[in-house]
Amino acid sequence: MDLPNRPRRLRRDGVRGLVSETSLDPSDFVAPVFVDATTDERVPIESMPGHERVPLDEAVARVEEVLETGVEAVMLFGIPESKDERGTRAYAESGVVQEATRKITSETDAYVITDICLCEYTSHGHCGVLEADASDDPDLTVENDETLDLLAKTAVSHAEAGAEMVAPSSMTDGMVAAIREGLDDAGFSDVPIMSYAAKYESAFYGPFRDAADGAPAFGDRRHYQMDPANRREAMREVELDAEQGADVLMVKPALPYLDVVADVRRNFDHPVAAYNVSGEYAMLHAAGEQGWLDVEATARESLLSIKRAGADLIVTYFAESVAESL
Ligand code: PBG
Repeated sequence: MDLPNRPRRLRRDGVRGLVSETSLDPSDFVAPVFVDATTDERVPIESMPGHERVPLDEAVARVEEVLETGVEAVMLFGIPESKDERGTRAYAESGVVQEATRKITSETDAYVITDICLCEYTSHGHCGVLEADASDDPDLTVENDETLDLLAKTAVSHAEAGAEMVAPSSMTDGMVAAIREGLDDAGFSDVPIMSYAAKYESAFYGPFRDAADGAPAFGDRRHYQMDPANRREAMREVELDAEQGADVLMVKPALPYLDVVADVRRNFDHPVAAYNVSGEYAMLHAAGEQGWLDVEATARESLLSIKRAGADLIVTYFAESVAESL
């Protein structure tokens, strides 16, 4: 048959690599690390096989394991020794993330990014300060503007401890501007902000909330995180963060929101990040345990698809295992 175009010509071994449009490299990945001030030994996270909460004394060792795989950046999450209404341990100089950051930045070459949110630190598990008596109110909401100051304080305390980048995830309106101003006033104008710019109210965060002990004690996060139904709104959210000085724009979760990743890529020239979240990790592992899916192959394909959609970097629990397999 006389066919002028035969795409299969370029699918042979030898030429495939030359025409490949997307590739994965360990330097694309950020590995989340959980540091737990309530334990003195490593605690496996059941719903996230292969991941654990580590005590402060093990934080450096844990990060060294990540670096051995070729991954160069970590994102730190903390489980504090105590929680209260205003999440004061989030911005304490002796807080768990602050202590871990000091150790990791002085003893390793890892690039340390810290998550900026109050949900792991508040007794009610919400991402900011609550409106008065909100616990009786099904329409509860977080007091937006009062939370801004606490987020800025948290970011400054992380930068003082040595954090190289901060990543606000609380979906508070104005958070990027407040944090930028706080960092600049404290002399940290070189510390970039990776904003969780389009963060959806997603059921895929389930395993993380076990891992970081940050589930809301009542209600949900639909008043501050985005509605999964909305795609155009994401462009407005991202635009606001870009105007406020975000250096890297993140979409979260990743796989169920690749349309949004592609939109951000098309409309902005900032670096785009995607967060391949805990539920995306747990799904593949659960199927893998049943013998229904090959975890490594599906993980690699997932990360490739996130890059193909337009992400430059990926925060992923698969960072170490995929980096090792490349
Ligand atoms: C904190 C935060 C969450 C995640 C990252 N930062 C949880 C949430 O918003 O409930 C989720 C990460 C994951 O599921 O892997 N706000």
